[in-house]
Amino acid sequence: MERENFGSKIGVLAAAAGSAIGLGNIWKFPYITGVNGGAAFILVYLGCILLVGLPVMLAEFVIGRKTQKNAVGAMKELAPDKPWYLAGALSVATSFIILSFYAIIAGWVFSYMGRAAIGKLTSVPVEQMEANFGALIGSVYEPLFATFLVIAITGAIVIAGIKTGIEKYSKLLMPLLLVLLIALMIRSVTLEGASEGLAFLFKPDFSLLTRHGVLEALGHAFYSLSLAMGIILTYGSYVNKKENILSLAVQVTIADTLIALMAGVVIFPAVFAYGLKPGQGPGLIFITLPAVFKAMPFGGFFGFLFFLLVGIAAITSTISLMEVIVAFITEQFNMTRKKATLFICIALFLLSIPSNLSFGPMSGVTIFFGFNFFDFLDKLTANIFLPLGGIFICLFTAWAWGTKNAVKEITSDGLYEFKWEKLFTFAIKYLAPVSISIIFFNSLGVFKLISKLFK
Ligand code: PHE
Repeated sequence: MERENFGSKIGVLAAAAGSAIGLGNIWKFPYITGVNGGAAFILVYLGCILLVGLPVMLAEFVIGRKTQKNAVGAMKELAPDKPWYLAGALSVATSFIILSFYAIIAGWVFSYMGRAAIGKLTSVPVEQMEANFGALIGSVYEPLFATFLVIAITGAIVIAGIKTGIEKYSKLLMPLLLVLLIALMIRSVTLEGASEGLAFLFKPDFSLLTRHGVLEALGHAFYSLSLAMGIILTYGSYVNKKENILSLAVQVTIADTLIALMAGVVIFPAVFAYGLKPGQGPGLIFITLPAVFKAMPFGGFFGFLFFLLVGIAAITSTISLMEVIVAFITEQFNMTRKKATLFICIALFLLSIPSNLSFGPMSGVTIFFGFNFFDFLDKLTANIFLPLGGIFICLFTAWAWGTKNAVKEITSDGLYEFKWEKLFTFAIKYLAPVSISIIFFNSLGVFKLISKLFK
């Protein structure tokens, strides 16, 4: 079977940036920046992106590009007699699980988009907005239907293939996302009292930066760049041999970071202008922002634009997660793209049911360590599978495939210059695996345990 490639550099860039830009940029980054000291946190985050995120992204891109295979096939090819392919299998499993609940949150976004479209986002009294959100996610049919819709849209794009599906829609949706973001940014910074929000976001306050904040910056750098899930590896496998991988990775990284900062400029000036609290956490976009839109002239319209923006960001991320699984199944089991995608969509929807019900009828049902189904899958992937996946990618590149080979592939066999070879090698061999291990042990509570033992 002929393997498809992306048709253009701009196409790969749109698809990879589309994956990277997601709920993590629009909701989480602005929020964690705010609580961790604004610009102080941003500086640490940029350091993590450059020293750890970018090298790992390069490694993933070239593992894929070298082999032109899915995550499992690629590792099998580069380390034929070793069980490294299990690391590839872990990333496919991680993508599958994450997609099963990422689609639920994207579904909430779609529900809010629908409400905004019929004028119901801003007609709710402010005191009821929190209860309203709780009622939505705690209900059964609407969230299930919305999850179904997200999976179906994602499946329809993925089934159409790399060029005529993923690339085509990424090239359409990403510019639209940028336009929406700029429009909302202008609206937000021109509100009276906007400057307080800008100060919250950009004024460095090093006293708010804690050890926890630094670990959070590193973890978020990984999540935001869509690393350790086989995504960049899989997209890399569709990249032309002559493409300059370094410039591609740098551009994806810049786009992801810029959009996260822009999202902060959309959210905080507006939140402060209306005297609301920035530290709502998960409720920020579903509870605080509807109140902001209610107070704003033409708020219903801007609210719709905002949820459309978030919806687009989410769909270009779900596409990339699904492609990891589709590439694996079509190539390892010789199945057609159509069959594989349909099969995956059905399995995803089934797995999303208990997660969906975790906010309603099944909220009291704990399955492991006192977690309900949704929280269990979330914690399992975020705290265990993702860091392990990141460590494996580094160790695989450093010790199984070899950084020399990776560098050769980064330069397209000598076609391009790569001035950062030493730094890249150091990052992949030591800096990245060690720092990811620190996050990993920290999230497992190992450090807490040690400090208790020595007290
Ligand atoms: N990078 C995405 C974000 O910032 C999150 C994501 C993770 C997307 C994993 C796809 C896969 O929101």
